[in-house]
Amino acid sequence: MNGIYKKLTECLECVRKRTDFVPKAAVVLGSGLGDYAESIRVECEVPYGEIEGFPVSTVPGHAGKFIFGWIDSVPVVCMKGRVHYYEGYNISDVVLPVRLMGLLGAEILFLTNASGGVNAAFRPGDLMLIRDHIALFAPNPLIGPNIEALGTRFPDMSAVYDPGLQDVIRKAADENGISLREGVYVQLTGPSFESPGDIRALRTLGADAVGMSTVVEAIAARHMGMRVCGISCISNLAAGMTAEPLSHQEVQEAADKAAPAFQKLVTESVRAMA
Ligand code: HPA
Repeated sequence: MNGIYKKLTECLECVRKRTDFVPKAAVVLGSGLGDYAESIRVECEVPYGEIEGFPVSTVPGHAGKFIFGWIDSVPVVCMKGRVHYYEGYNISDVVLPVRLMGLLGAEILFLTNASGGVNAAFRPGDLMLIRDHIALFAPNPLIGPNIEALGTRFPDMSAVYDPGLQDVIRKAADENGISLREGVYVQLTGPSFESPGDIRALRTLGADAVGMSTVVEAIAARHMGMRVCGISCISNLAAGMTAEPLSHQEVQEAADKAAPAFQKLVTESVRAMA
């Protein structure tokens, strides 16, 4: 058996020893949604560290866990904490958690993140519905022998972000008075932030927001036929767009400030996906 698939099925068995909960939606909680777990009616938690072979974040205190439970009447699994390619994992490990949630039964993948605004009309704290992505600068998570049990060799990526789910999110934003930007997200590897030249180039290519996650997860999820949607919290304007240098602290503070609207939008959107 393919080594990547073997590890995945072993992780699946490990989680299944802990819970038989079948989620409908999988939610990846990015920066700014750190406290989101409080909005979930929790059934069971599985710390990543207790799943043998599972990639655990190298940042102390950021190990993370799966939270199984309910958002309103929708059974969900939430990822509190994700691993990033820049931490040094193989790209197959970076997408293992998303694949695992798909194998646990999740039909929908709801991705969230914090990003730098590339579109000059954006402001820190804005929420952006991800309409499409640019994957050109991220390692493709499907490189290697195709895992036929998951999906086809050359999966279509012409509508990664499900149009129906986009409409659900737009409607939820509208009904709750939350203003929502829309745009194209580009994933770079990080961990260094971009240069002003990088940002000018990315803008020319059609990017509205830049970050270090999400795209590879979306590709792995589409490969296995999950319906994908995503929202990005614009935590800062990208490099060269303001006089100030970028800092992780600035990103965290802006994400924290946007958190109430972000959490509300996720909750109301998931509720409408019942
Ligand atoms: N660049 C890349 N990733 C990010 C940024 C940024 O400006 N802000 C938050 N994540």
